[in-house]
Amino acid sequence: MPTVLVLGAASDMAVAIVKHMAPLGYSFQLAARNANRLEALKSDIGIRFNASATLHEFDALDFASHVSFYKSLPVTPDITICVIGYLGDPEKAATDWSEAARILHTNYTGAVSILNVVAADYSEKKKGVIVGISSVAGERGRQSNYLYGSAKAGFTAYLSGLRNKLFQSGVHVVSVQPGFVFTSMTAHLTLPPLLTATPEIVANTVYKAIQKKKDVVYVKWFWRWIMLIIKCIPEFIFKKLKL
Ligand SMILES: NC(=O)c1ccc[n+]([C@@H]2O[C@H](COP(=O)([O-])OP(=O)(O)OC[C@H]3O[C@@H](n4cnc5c(N)ncnc54)[C@H](OP(=O)(O)O)[C@@H]3O)[C@@H](O)[C@H]2O)c1
Repeated sequence: MPTVLVLGAASDMAVAIVKHMAPLGYSFQLAARNANRLEALKSDIGIRFNASATLHEFDALDFASHVSFYKSLPVTPDITICVIGYLGDPEKAATDWSEAARILHTNYTGAVSILNVVAADYSEKKKGVIVGISSVAGERGRQSNYLYGSAKAGFTAYLSGLRNKLFQSGVHVVSVQPGFVFTSMTAHLTLPPLLTATPEIVANTVYKAIQKKKDVVYVKWFWRWIMLIIKCIPEFIFKKLKL
């Protein structure tokens, strides 16, 4: 039975991913801050799908703990899915370094720190799948969230480079680029329903991407073309837009 390590397992997307994959014969290592919150999810998938799960304390910002965290896992996971993220308060972050650093370190440094450990292990074993949830926000910096966007841009580039590096070792890396998704992260925002996905749609996209060995997937599909158009807008026009 393949084992999936889920980093940021309490997030709405992660819960949807676990519920999507649990009936399909996977077992789980659910890693999060205050991991005992995940007891209910663990028993739910155990009762309904006979899927097993172990719970693990994980803090993306505690970089020094990442090697020992990974070593402490009961088995090497076959698949690692990194769902951690922090949108933060863009206004506050513009002048408050602690908020800016939290955005940058959660979305980029913390994710890279733990995935480097996973990647080194998978590279040695010559197998494994790494899935990173990045964002279309990383494809062009906008005034409304350029710190979050720049961290996601770094993460997207990291995943791309990692995929290139690990290809020869038979390790597959999937980059997931959601547009808007209805989750607790965006609960305070008014999102356009037609452009916005549910966590269940993300989960379906992630699972299919793993199965079909996709490299880069968008949720929903049209975000690839929306971002292409946005990236084509000349800078002298783009800088005047309120985005
Ligand atoms: N929602 C969207 O519109 C959208 C769009 C594009 C991309 N994304 C990305 O999708 C992913 C999932 O986000 P979501 O929308 O499902 O929001 P979410 O429910 O807020 O999930 C974010 C998760 O990251 C975890 N996290 C934050 N800081 C952490 C840390 N220091 N250590 C460990 N875990 C930490 C949070 O843990 P706690 O539960 O402990 O707070 C939370 O479970 C994120 O990478 C996000 O950037 C979201």
